[in-house]
Amino acid sequence: MIPVCEPLIGDNVLPLVRDCVDTGWISSEGRYIRAFEEKWAQYCGAAHGVAVANGTCALQVAVGALELPAGSEIILPSFTIISCAIAVIEAGCVPVLVDVEPDTWNMNLDEVEAKITARTRAIMPVHMFGHPVDMTRLMELAARHDLRVIEDAAESHGAEVNGRRVGGIGDMGCFSFYANKIITTGEGGMVVTSDAVYAERLRSLRNLCFRPDRRFLHTEIGHNYRLTNLQAAVGVAQVDCIEEHIRRKRWMAENYRARLQGLPVALPVERNWAKNVYWMYGLVLDDEVPFDATEFARRLRARGVDTRPLFLGMHEQPVLQGRNLFNGEKYPVTERLAKRGLYLPSGLTLTEAQIDEVSSVVRDVLASA
Ligand SMILES: Cc1ncc(COP(=O)(O)O)c(C=O)c1O
Repeated sequence: MIPVCEPLIGDNVLPLVRDCVDTGWISSEGRYIRAFEEKWAQYCGAAHGVAVANGTCALQVAVGALELPAGSEIILPSFTIISCAIAVIEAGCVPVLVDVEPDTWNMNLDEVEAKITARTRAIMPVHMFGHPVDMTRLMELAARHDLRVIEDAAESHGAEVNGRRVGGIGDMGCFSFYANKIITTGEGGMVVTSDAVYAERLRSLRNLCFRPDRRFLHTEIGHNYRLTNLQAAVGVAQVDCIEEHIRRKRWMAENYRARLQGLPVALPVERNWAKNVYWMYGLVLDDEVPFDATEFARRLRARGVDTRPLFLGMHEQPVLQGRNLFNGEKYPVTERLAKRGLYLPSGLTLTEAQIDEVSSVVRDVLASA
């Protein structure tokens, strides 16, 4: 079976992890936390980094740091992971959805403006599968309506909008460093920001809102969302490899494109203002293909090719509908992606022979349709 993803962990992590073990700094104190925060923030073009336990926590503390009144609306795409909606709901805010573009799978900015009300306070663009949202246009729109912007860049480390890296463009940018991400710490996350007030607030929320003046005195509810020094040590070493990881992803995309062009599937795109980092290589079946993505995945798997489905829309989640959200709302592009899309093996260790094999299996399965 050709696996859908494998991380690439170089030997450069070992001396740093050993240093944590040798010195005993294995929890969330220790020099690698600050080093990782500084290095990643700098990479993203932001002044501060606040490392947390995972990407979901990053979104939670980021929304928390906005300190919005209960009932504030935050606009996000229907096609995303539930972490985004959870972060909004747990802060006492209301998630408001917009559909996505059929080719980039990113939030449709034409729809954002129509969803702005007197209660709207923020927008949460999610840079999907490596392709950035058009942040030039989104930031202009946000400024016009005085809205804050939290970028979810979990899947798009190093992606660029007109030469600017994602995460550092909005008020805050959130990252995941899960094992399938472009750089990883096993589990891990970070919020980057250039606003010192948000940074301080993020640090407090990540660590139980300990008051600096009197330890064990609390005037607010916080969380233990701390990253460990061990994980941060892996992160420091991984940041040094990011350009190589992005190079591999772009090489993978070029090779898949060359082999899959002309088949009845839509392939990933790259807008002329964007740098796509091709986190995972997704395909969407054309309407003429007589089976859906579940059957496509089954047939590929029978031939030794592992795949994963795409997100199921937030408006189709029973747990959110149960909270009386998104009643009767329809997001046709999201629904189509959930039914017709999947992603192919896209790990950082993928070889040309594996890309050849996957592509010829895809070709055969579609030819026998
Ligand atoms: C777009 C997006 N946001 C947030 C997350 C959450 O990250 P984590 O799994 O580290 O909690 C993910 C996870 O994979 C993601 O794809």
